[in-house]
Amino acid sequence: MVTVNKNYLKLPGSYLFSTIAKKVAAYQEANPDVQIVRLGIGDVTQPLAPAIINALHKSVDEMANAETFHGYAPDLGYEFLRSAIAKNDYEARGCDIHADEIFVSDGAKSDSGNIQEIFGIENKVAVCDPVYPVYVDTNVMAGRTGAYNTKRENFDGVIYMPCLEENGFLPEFPTETPDLIYLCFPNNPSGAAITKDKLQEWVDYANKNGAVIIYDAAYEAYITEENVPHSIYECEGARTCAIELRSFSKNAGFTGVRLGFTVVPKELIREGVALHDLWARRHGTKFNGAPYIVQRAGEAVYSPEGKAQLKEQVAYYMKNAHTIYNGLKEAGYSVSGGVNAPYIWLKTPNNMSSWDFFDYLLENAHVVGTPGSGFGAHGEGFFRLTAFGSYENTQEALRRIKAL
Ligand code: MLT
Repeated sequence: MVTVNKNYLKLPGSYLFSTIAKKVAAYQEANPDVQIVRLGIGDVTQPLAPAIINALHKSVDEMANAETFHGYAPDLGYEFLRSAIAKNDYEARGCDIHADEIFVSDGAKSDSGNIQEIFGIENKVAVCDPVYPVYVDTNVMAGRTGAYNTKRENFDGVIYMPCLEENGFLPEFPTETPDLIYLCFPNNPSGAAITKDKLQEWVDYANKNGAVIIYDAAYEAYITEENVPHSIYECEGARTCAIELRSFSKNAGFTGVRLGFTVVPKELIREGVALHDLWARRHGTKFNGAPYIVQRAGEAVYSPEGKAQLKEQVAYYMKNAHTIYNGLKEAGYSVSGGVNAPYIWLKTPNNMSSWDFFDYLLENAHVVGTPGSGFGAHGEGFFRLTAFGSYENTQEALRRIKAL
């Protein structure tokens, strides 16, 4: 008789964004005439930039000829893309990262879920609270946690680092020393950014304790402040303690195209084993490469036209961020985020629970956001709005919220 992976049974309910999608679909079905504005999931709305579309067309045509056709991509990604990443994302920022330390993938969600596989099951995991649910859920699935604690509304055996108003939504060193530390900056969901000095403290802490930081920098394109690092490798000593995850979804609109990469420096060694070799082995065995046409589209992100067009696209979303931030402030909400990130994090009014505020906003303003408690127990009483809508929809959402 087959048995199932019982760790999956520890997970309460469905994935956060699936739950929200179901709720919204049910509401729309019951109220077919209502125009819902969706500022829930952080999904982009603007079309791909012309430089990217051109690269896609060109590479699709290459696939129509035997001489230029491409089959399986190299396991770790095409050299043209890995070199473009190394040069533009790292060398240009003074980071010592090389093309052969970059692993191209189909996106940061898969990488952030899969990366835990190369670590032992006994490792203690630390996460921010609130947190992007993938880091926790995948460790639960792997059996690296205890059961779901209904009283605390989180998992036994996980080190949660509360990120609250009092600490500027930044984690503090936990009392129990973790092995694996997930950090995401600029942060999803709170939109908080970490300064280079503060991140340096985490790098030093990890090196001192032999821990590994899994640094999710999916939102780095939205950084506007000088003292905020775009990569953890801007910090000294990060090569011996950090893995970085990057995405093309938010900076270039690839949510439906799928492309990302993970950086594993060759100096990152634990128990005498190079984590680079383990991730290469995992990638080679379980992944057959991101599509050629998509990697060519990724290369176009780094072309002069691509860079100029994407700068405008990011500015477009940041204008939405400012619209939401300022609009909520004017309406009397307590707001943060939105300066170095496309997320605005607000306190629910009148001590409403996050889910009550979700229902209230959906029913009265027909606006969808994401309940803070969906990201963790310490997200309770907060709510996230994304800047990834169209400008018109964003303005409309704010008009409705202000009218409540
Ligand atoms: C979010 O809304 O938190 C993100 O869009 C989800 C993701 O990037 O997978």
